[in-house]
Amino acid sequence: MIYEKRKIIIDTDPGIDDAVALALALFSDKLDVKLISTVSGNVSLEKVTLNTLKLLNLFDKNIPVAKGSTRPLIKKAIDASDIHGETGMDGYDFKQVDESLIVKQHAVEAIRNVITENIANNSKITIVAIGPLTNIALAIRTYPEIIYGIEELVIMGGSLGRGNSGVLSEFNFDCDAEAAKIVFDTATESGMKVTVTPLDVGLKALVYPEESEQIKNMNIIGDMFYHLFKKYRGGSFGTGLKMYDSCAIAYILCPECFTIERTYVDIETTGTLTYGASIIDLRNYMKKPANARVCIDINENIFKQWFMKSIAEFNIN
Ligand code: BDR
Ligand code: CA
Repeated sequence: MIYEKRKIIIDTDPGIDDAVALALALFSDKLDVKLISTVSGNVSLEKVTLNTLKLLNLFDKNIPVAKGSTRPLIKKAIDASDIHGETGMDGYDFKQVDESLIVKQHAVEAIRNVITENIANNSKITIVAIGPLTNIALAIRTYPEIIYGIEELVIMGGSLGRGNSGVLSEFNFDCDAEAAKIVFDTATESGMKVTVTPLDVGLKALVYPEESEQIKNMNIIGDMFYHLFKKYRGGSFGTGLKMYDSCAIAYILCPECFTIERTYVDIETTGTLTYGASIIDLRNYMKKPANARVCIDINENIFKQWFMKSIAEFNIN
């Protein structure tokens, strides 16, 4: 039987863990990546876009790239160059890039175009957002009709417990809490299907040194990962590197990794101590109907098997 590939848009800010997530998606024969949109986050928009082009060149994939927001909606930009390096992807000597992959439209327009073209063909698009939610919030506020062409919005962001950017805030939501709030408010109002892989599952999706060594010898992309891993400060090479963004792809390709709960999620945008915190109301204190599905736990063994096998099977020409 021939299965139709799931059509996705990836909104991203590469970023070392984004680089791994992009490869997992682009080499999957179950996914049809229609567009990659970039957003300022781990480093500037110019740098994350250049990083996306570097990856596509190494992967030998011709996917359209749309440049998006240069800064968050309201707050000043923060970055994570302490985690990913000055370039956002330090550690590997990438070759030249093909700038012609960049489309003329802003990411908001490009996202809208992909979704509306698919609505015309009675088909829906899954968006995987693994950076700050600025582009997504702008797209759904500017063109609310696209909400009905979104099969599912899968987000890496937020935290059930403590944060990695503020005491209670995870980096992607802390970067642009107003955008994150718009997304969850939209889910409440419209019923848009939103699934979250929060920080907590990423903290358990670890790559240990022995796996890094195996990955290095799998293929040229594994070798590239290895060199990035040596510079990545999301965890440590010796005690485990955190594959946050790969969890969002794992949720689509290997959902059996996760324990999932339907719950209400809101984002703190006014708290003086807790800006960017995700309020994930698992015990329904707020008496609000669920607006999201949240991956509350991960089976590390299933994740690891899927992760290693996927990289080993990258089909490189
Ligand atoms: C998120 O922050 C970024 O640094 C990572 O790429 C990931 O998307 C984890 O909090
Ligand atoms: Ca990211």
